[in-house]
Amino acid sequence: MSNKIRWGVLGGGGDSLIGVLHRVAASMFDKYQLTGAVFNPVYEKSIEFAREIGIPTNRIYEDFDSMVARELELPENERIQVFSVLTPNFLHFPMAKKLLESGFHVICEKPMTMNLEEALELEAIQQKNNNIFALTHTYTGYPMIRQMKKMIAEGAIGEVQKVDGQYYQGWINPIIHDPESRSTTWRLDPEKSGISCCMGDIGVHAYQMLEFVTGMDIQSVLADLNYLYEDNKMDIDGTVLLRLGGNAKGVLRASQIATAEENNFTIAVYGREGTLKWEQENPNYLYLLKEGKPAQTLKPGHEYNSAVSLDGTKLPPGHPEGIFDAMGNIYKGVAKAIRGQEHDPMEFPGMRDGVRGMRFIETVVASHLEGNIWKSL
Ligand SMILES: NC(=O)c1ccc[n+]([C@@H]2O[C@H](COP(=O)([O-])OP(=O)(O)OC[C@H]3O[C@@H](n4cnc5c(N)ncnc54)[C@H](O)[C@@H]3O)[C@@H](O)[C@H]2O)c1
Repeated sequence: MSNKIRWGVLGGGGDSLIGVLHRVAASMFDKYQLTGAVFNPVYEKSIEFAREIGIPTNRIYEDFDSMVARELELPENERIQVFSVLTPNFLHFPMAKKLLESGFHVICEKPMTMNLEEALELEAIQQKNNNIFALTHTYTGYPMIRQMKKMIAEGAIGEVQKVDGQYYQGWINPIIHDPESRSTTWRLDPEKSGISCCMGDIGVHAYQMLEFVTGMDIQSVLADLNYLYEDNKMDIDGTVLLRLGGNAKGVLRASQIATAEENNFTIAVYGREGTLKWEQENPNYLYLLKEGKPAQTLKPGHEYNSAVSLDGTKLPPGHPEGIFDAMGNIYKGVAKAIRGQEHDPMEFPGMRDGVRGMRFIETVVASHLEGNIWKSL
């Protein structure tokens, strides 16, 4: 019998954006076996997709509830061990809650829940049951992001005084100007997406990343969001001023109407002794700036990188790795945790990131709606 981790998938079918990223990531280090799934709310479509990707259909279930019930009937050594929740946002909480309560480990897409109340409830359940919970802030899996975090922690740029997170996309631009499209896209429907579109979908990545690389908590925010049309209930762009501890301050800029931008996510951290900058569209370069010295470009796979960065690099320097590899590193870290193996906490984001992310989304929207005022997180 295979000693791979038995893995279940919810959502992420052939019609989805994110499914392929998780399937490739899970297969990357030969640690997971795709054992069962509900890929789609329509059973026939789930079966059809299972056949298309060549996996047995005997554990493709009609819906989530029957999947959990039937898996729990199986002996523990056959039962699925970890589920990935890859559905639209409104299903993350009910699915993750039931899975954690039933003793499964969970890998969940962001945003973790629809609101802070759900996030806190999920946190209490996980703390009680002590299952592994990972939140796929994918970009934290890049080797040069891990290196950036290590270098900041080790004082390479000195005390942090300014942070800048930018996440610009343009994909909503053609949708938002068409009344029919903007009323039928799930990400613009508060019932399916939550109270925020732009901040909930991508602003939260930038927020989590700023806290991840600096190791600092953002303490208060002042937001100015843009909805563009009266009948559009969800922000599609926004700028947020940030206060971290001490005198450290910053800005987070996110947009889905930055026309023709693709996935332009950049992070810059300015310290007293230097600067570190990274760009998602060129993820293998980390830029180190020091006053009066030539800029340095650090790259993956070299011995000057930390152990946790090197652990996230599979090939010798000069072989570009990308977003599939970053997600693969997160799955690798989760596999270590499930097997009780030693791992660095930075190998995958988890419940704390999820709770803080939901707090960020709610606070940013409140700051905007209450007249662009400072609010504590
Ligand atoms: N980590 C990242 O960088 C990243 C990137 C993109 C999307 N996401 C997140 O991933 C999630 C999914 O996004 P997407 O773009 O793939 O969405 P999508 O609309 O493209 O796909 C959603 C999938 O869920 C399935 N589904 C819907 N209801 C279901 C149900 N009741 N049971 C089982 N399956 C069901 C759909 O059939 C589809 O396969 C979102 O929460 C999104 O925020 C994260």
